[in-house]
Amino acid sequence: MTVGIHKPAVTADDAARILLGTYGIEGQVEPLAGERDATMAVLGRDGGRYVLKIAPAGEAHEVLALEVAALDHVAQRRPPLGLPRVLPSTAGERIGRWTGPTGQAHGVRLFTWVPGKVWARTNPHTPALRRSLGAAVARLTGALEGFDHPAAHREFVWDLTRTDRVVHCTAAIADPGRRARAESILNALPDAGSRLAGLPQGVLYNDANDWNVLVSGPAGEAGEVCGIVDFGDLLAGPVVADLAIAVAYGVMGTRDPLAAAAEIVSGYHGERGLAEAELNVLFPLVQARLALSVAVSAERRRATPGDEYLSISEARAWAVLDRLAGTAERMAEYTFRAACGLEPCPASPRLRRWLERSADSARPVLGAGLAAGPVVPIDLAIDSPDFGTLADLDDLERTRRAVERRVADAGARVGIGGWNEVRAIYRAAAFRTEGNERDEFRTVHVGLDLFVAPGTPVCAPFDGIVHSFGDNAGRYDYGPTLILEHRVRDAAGQFAFHTLYGHLSVESLHGLRAGAAVSAGDAIAHVGDSAVNGGWPPHLHFQVICDLLGRGGEFPGVAGIRDRAVWLSLSPDPGPALGFPAPPGPRVRPDAAGIAAAREARLGPNLSLSYRKPLHIVRGFRQFLYDADGQPFLDCVNNVAHVGHCHPRVVAAAHAQKAVLETNTRYLHGNIIRLAERLTATLPPSLEVCFFVNSGSEANELALRLARTYTRRRGLVVLDSGYHGNTTALIDASPWKHDGPGGEGSPPWLRKIPLPDPYRGRYRDDPDAGPKYASHVSLAVRDLRESGFEPAALLVEPIVSCGGQVVPPAGFLVAAWERARAAGAVCIADEVQTGLGRVGDAFWAFQLQDALPDVVTVGKPFGNGHPLAAVVTTRAIADAFANGMEYFNTFGGNPASCAIGLAVLDVIEEEALRENARDVGAALLRDLRALAGRHPLIGDVRGRGLFLGFELVADRETRTPAPAAAAGLVNRAREKGVLLATDGPDHNVIKIKPPLCFTRADAGQLVAVVDEVLAEDAFRL
Ligand SMILES: Cc1ncc(COP(=O)(O)O)c(C=O)c1O
Repeated sequence: MTVGIHKPAVTADDAARILLGTYGIEGQVEPLAGERDATMAVLGRDGGRYVLKIAPAGEAHEVLALEVAALDHVAQRRPPLGLPRVLPSTAGERIGRWTGPTGQAHGVRLFTWVPGKVWARTNPHTPALRRSLGAAVARLTGALEGFDHPAAHREFVWDLTRTDRVVHCTAAIADPGRRARAESILNALPDAGSRLAGLPQGVLYNDANDWNVLVSGPAGEAGEVCGIVDFGDLLAGPVVADLAIAVAYGVMGTRDPLAAAAEIVSGYHGERGLAEAELNVLFPLVQARLALSVAVSAERRRATPGDEYLSISEARAWAVLDRLAGTAERMAEYTFRAACGLEPCPASPRLRRWLERSADSARPVLGAGLAAGPVVPIDLAIDSPDFGTLADLDDLERTRRAVERRVADAGARVGIGGWNEVRAIYRAAAFRTEGNERDEFRTVHVGLDLFVAPGTPVCAPFDGIVHSFGDNAGRYDYGPTLILEHRVRDAAGQFAFHTLYGHLSVESLHGLRAGAAVSAGDAIAHVGDSAVNGGWPPHLHFQVICDLLGRGGEFPGVAGIRDRAVWLSLSPDPGPALGFPAPPGPRVRPDAAGIAAAREARLGPNLSLSYRKPLHIVRGFRQFLYDADGQPFLDCVNNVAHVGHCHPRVVAAAHAQKAVLETNTRYLHGNIIRLAERLTATLPPSLEVCFFVNSGSEANELALRLARTYTRRRGLVVLDSGYHGNTTALIDASPWKHDGPGGEGSPPWLRKIPLPDPYRGRYRDDPDAGPKYASHVSLAVRDLRESGFEPAALLVEPIVSCGGQVVPPAGFLVAAWERARAAGAVCIADEVQTGLGRVGDAFWAFQLQDALPDVVTVGKPFGNGHPLAAVVTTRAIADAFANGMEYFNTFGGNPASCAIGLAVLDVIEEEALRENARDVGAALLRDLRALAGRHPLIGDVRGRGLFLGFELVADRETRTPAPAAAAGLVNRAREKGVLLATDGPDHNVIKIKPPLCFTRADAGQLVAVVDEVLAEDAFRL
C-alpha cells in the first residue's frame, strides 16, 4: 500500500475566492496544519468562524460523502461534545468543487468552527483531563453508533487492523533497533485478527490525535475535553480502536504512559462500558497505532522532505514506544482492567479459591519444627509506632535487632511482616519510579516476610518444579531467590501458579536445576543472613504469583501504590500457603475519606484543612512528610518542625525524660534552669528572666499581662494584618483575625499602624519608609490617649508572617520602639515564628534591625512540635509582675518540655542550622528572583534566611494581588510533592519556612516545581 499523499497547494487568495464564490463569505483566511486536506481557519466579516478544507485532487467523492454523512449522523445524536457541522454552499451543496491551477478538480467543504484549545498545546494534562478525553471518545463512539457507509469499508493507511500492509514503511526508519521494533509490532497485530473480529464493530472516527482533540480553557484543573474535529479518517473497524488511538496520542509526553493510559481508559469506561475482550486487545492496538505513526512518518519524510506536519508526532510517538518497551502486554491488560473496576488478573480468583481450599494441606514453608510455635506480627507499616523514627528504621542493623527483640519478647519463633502493607522502609533509589506528576515510591509489600534466624530451612508448601533461581545481589534487593512452579487441579481442570522465596542463603542455589521436581515438605533452601540478602534483617520473603508476566526472580515483591490493585491480584495473600496459621493481616486503618467525614462529625467545623485534596499524613522525618501511601512530600511550610520532623535527638530526649519525671514547677528541678540559661544566653543581656509556657498564644498572653502589670495601663499598639494568638485578648490584638471573617473589629484599647510592607504598603519604594511607618506609633498613641487609654505595649513581629512574610524597611523597628518607649510603653517582639536562627544572619529577627525589645515571646519551633513556648523579659518587668498574685502554669516548664527545648537548642548548634538557614535561604532567594525573571506572575520575592515569601500579582505595574493563582500554585505543587501555603492579607503570598535542615537540593526541587507549575496554562498572564 502506498502511503504518499498530495496535499493541494492552495494559497490564501485561492481560499478567499473559494469562500466568496462557493459560500458567499468574505473574511480572513489563515492556513492550519493538516495531513491531506489544505485546511484554512476562516474569520468571516460577520464575525463567524469556520474551517475550510480543500481535498487532494483525486480524493474519491465517496470518501468526502462519508465524512459529511457521519457528521450529519452525529449531529442528530447531539452528544455533549463540540463537533463540526458541514455548511452548505450558496448552491446548497455540502461538497463544493474547486478547480486548481493545474485544472484538477478538488472537493471543498466548509465546517463550523469548534471552540477550544488543541490537546497538544494544553498544559498540564492532568489525570482528570485524561479521564475526560476517554469520556469524550466514548461519547463520540456512542454518537457514531448505528452509522454505516460504503466508503467506510475502504482500504486505508490508518487501518489499525491491517498494519501488515504498511510494514514496508519501516524500511525508512534509520535506527535498526527501532526499525525491528516497529516491524514486529506492525506484523504482530494481524495475528490478533481473530480477537479483533469478535469485538463490537462500527464506523470509527479513527483520528483522536492530540491536534484534533480540543480542551476547554483555561486548562487548570477545571479544563476538560470539549470537542473533537477533523473527520477525514473515518473507517469501519472495532470501535475500541478509537480509544486505542486516543490513548496513543493522549499519553504522549508522559513519564508513565501506562498510568496515563489507564486514566483515559477509566474515563471511557465510565461513559461506555468496555468488554473484557476489548480490554484484551487495547494495548496491542495502542502500540500498533504508535508504530503505524512512526513508520508512516518515516516513509513520508523520506518521500516528501520538508513537510513538518507529516512527522509532527514522530519523536513523541517514539518516546512513548520506548517507555512502554518493558511493559508486558498482560500487565497492560491487567492495568486497564483495574481501571475499569474489574479483577485485574482474571486468573487470580481461581488461585485464591484453590489456596483457601488447600490451606490445610499446605506443608509449613519453615519446616515442621517452626510451624508449631507462636508467631508475632512485625508491623513495618509507614505509620507503625514500633520501630522509632525513619533514621532508626534506615539503620537496618538496628531494625534487625529490634525485630529479633520483638520476636524473642513475644516468646515467638517467627515474626511475620504483612502482605499489602504500605511500608516506610522502601525509600532507596531502587524503589523510586517516575510518575506523571512526581516521582513515586513503590511502598506496598505484596508477599509475607517471615523473620527467623539465618539458616532456617525453607520448605516447599506444595508439589512443584524449580522454575528459576538466581542471586539478585545488591543492597535492598532479594539476594538469592528461588521460584517454584506448581501445577494443580480444581474442578475446572489444571492450572499453574508460582511461589517465590527471596533473601535465601547463597548455598541454597547450589545444585539447583530448573525443571527439577520438588515434593511438598521438601527442604528447598535456607534463610540467608544480612550479608547476602540485600542487607535486610534475616527473613524469608514468601510470595504467591498468579502470572509471572514472563519474568523471573526479579519479579517485584514491592509494588507501586498506583497499581496496588494489579499487584495484589497478581500476588494474592500467601497466608493460606504458609502451612501454619498466620496472624491477621495489616491493621485496618481509617482512610482519608473516613477521617474527613469523622472530622466533620466530631471536631469543630472551623478547623481548616490544607489543599483542595487534603493530605493524610502519617509520618514525618527531617524536611519530609509522608502520606498514608508512603509517598514523601517536601515540607516547605512547617516551621514548627524547626530542626526537622521527628528529630531523633529530640525524640530521644522526650522519651528519656518522660520515663523519669514529668511534673510542674512547684518542685526544684535542674532542667528548667538549664533551659533558662541556654535561652537567655542567645539574647541580649537585659533579657534575663524566663517564663515557660505551652504555646505562642500563651506566651503573648503572658507578655501582654507583663506589660499591663508593669505599666499599669491597658492600651496596645500592633501592626495591621498582625496575628499573635488564639486567646480572647489576642484575637483582640490580632487585626488578621478581628478584621477578617467572623471578627468583631478592634477593641477600644487597641490601635493598629500600617503594615510596613516595602512592596505594597503605603510608603512603598520610599527610602525613608522605615521611620515613616514608625511615626504611626506616635499617631496611634495619641489616638489611644484621646480614647482614654494609655499605651501599655507595642507588640510586633520583627518579620511579619501572616501579613505576608513582610520584612519591614530598614530603621523601622528601632524608630518604632523608640517612639513606643517615649510614650511609656513596653516593646514586645513576637518571635514565635521568626526566632531560634530561622532568619539566618541572626538568632532572633529583631537583631536584623539592631533593635532591642523589653519582652520576647518564643513559641512554635522551640519544642520542635512539642508544646513548648517562653517569654523572656527584663528583671524590672518580671519583678513588677510579681505583685502578690502567683503565676502558675500546670504544664509550662515541666522537666520533659525543658529536656526537649534543650535538645532543640543543642541540635540548632551542633548541626549549624542557623548557618544552614542563612546559606540555603540566600541561594533560594536568588533562585526565586531568577524565577521571577521568567514568570511575570511573581511580583516580589522577599525574606531572610529560611523565612521567605513570594507574592503573585496579576499586574506588576499595579501590583494587583492574584490570590486565585496563589491557591492554584499551592494545590498544583502539592500534586507534585511539594508543600507550600499562602499568606498575606490578600492570600497571594506563597510562604516558605521549612524545617531548617532544608538543603540546596530541596531548594532546587522547590524552584523546579514552582517553575513547572507557573509554566502551566492557568498561570500564564
Ligand atoms: C506570630 C505568631 N504569634 C503567635 C502565634 C500563636 O501561637 P500558638 O498557635 O502556638 O498559640 C502564632 C501562631 O500562628 C503566630 O504566628
